[in-house]
Amino acid sequence: MSDKTQIKLLPNGPAIVEGNFEVFSTDGTEMAQGKGAIALCRCGASASKPFCDGAHSKISFQG
Ligand code: FES
Repeated sequence: MSDKTQIKLLPNGPAIVEGNFEVFSTDGTEMAQGKGAIALCRCGASASKPFCDGAHSKISFQG
């Protein structure tokens, strides 16, 4: 794994963030932190935004 945080857009799926990360809500509350990989929703259908919960496959997201 690179020492840089990488963001990979999966075809018709989430954005995979790999590396050190911190995720904050709109009010600045920390939602997650760590090192590794997380999937962020790109389709808008996730029930656990900003994280992907697999709903993109149910709505046949194209992107
Ligand atoms: S990209 Fe997976 S639920 Fe939206």
